[in-house]
Amino acid sequence: MEEHTNPQSQNQQDADTDHATRDRELFDQIAEKYCRKDLLTATRHARRHRLFQTLRSIPMSPKADVLEVGCGAGFSAKYLEGRVGSYCGVDYSENLIHYACVHNSGPEIEFVAANIKDFQPGKSFDLIFAIGLLHHFDDLDSMLKSTVQLLKPGGWFIANEPQPGNPLVSVARRIRKRIDTHYSAEQKELTARSLQDACERANLSSVQILPQGLFSTPFAEVPLSPQWLSTPFSYLACFTDKIVERLPAIALRKLTWNLIVAGQKPEAEC
Ligand SMILES: C[S@@+](CC[C@H](N)C(=O)[O-])C[C@H]1O[C@@H](n2cnc3c(N)ncnc32)[C@H](O)[C@@H]1O
Repeated sequence: MEEHTNPQSQNQQDADTDHATRDRELFDQIAEKYCRKDLLTATRHARRHRLFQTLRSIPMSPKADVLEVGCGAGFSAKYLEGRVGSYCGVDYSENLIHYACVHNSGPEIEFVAANIKDFQPGKSFDLIFAIGLLHHFDDLDSMLKSTVQLLKPGGWFIANEPQPGNPLVSVARRIRKRIDTHYSAEQKELTARSLQDACERANLSSVQILPQGLFSTPFAEVPLSPQWLSTPFSYLACFTDKIVERLPAIALRKLTWNLIVAGQKPEAEC
């Protein structure tokens, strides 16, 4: 039978492939530098803090099968060791997955180099999380839907994303896009509304948006010298954020650098 391809959808597919290829190549190029953030004490503390602040709003079982999408060099696997049953990290940058295997291998830890849209693990997960990933997706709706399909019924999806609601974040990201060759140009700006809508379209329920990272993201996640000064500064920024993030979400929504979006896959799908 003859196959007909809509030229417009073919063009869209080609554009999506180019977008993913450019983004993946950039992460391959900067992989070694990227790892440093989790190897230096000050930034390691801040990145661990961001992970735990992200996961604190959802139930976590020490038996949970966990998938991290866009896991980078996979340091979350080590931060979560002993707190979850199994961890699988997926990233399409082969170089980052190489460093993940070097630094973070362990029992019940697995790393896979793959685009999440092609990932077929042969099992489903209790929790899927992503830090700084969704704004890299070429087609948020279809990628999110395929990710949510990997959840068990009743399982949780949670993501931490930079937010454009804070004008400082928006300006800083636009400037970086222009001047920093190590900064991906393929990023989108995702508002709280667009994140919430995308999760609802992916059939997640009880979707909630929480602000995160007032001082820790801008001041403690960027490697600075000397370490003897940046380390106490990082601890102070994270400690302050832990207190501040207990304030009502509405008071912080426009101020923080990140937003957390979480939703649950319904127990039984109709
Ligand atoms: C900003 S980095 C964040 C990495 C890590 N989560 C962290 O916090 O350090 C985004 C990561 O997502 C990965 N990524 C982007 N799109 C992806 C996709 N479709 N499938 C798998 N990995 C993807 C990139 O290779 C990159 O490592």
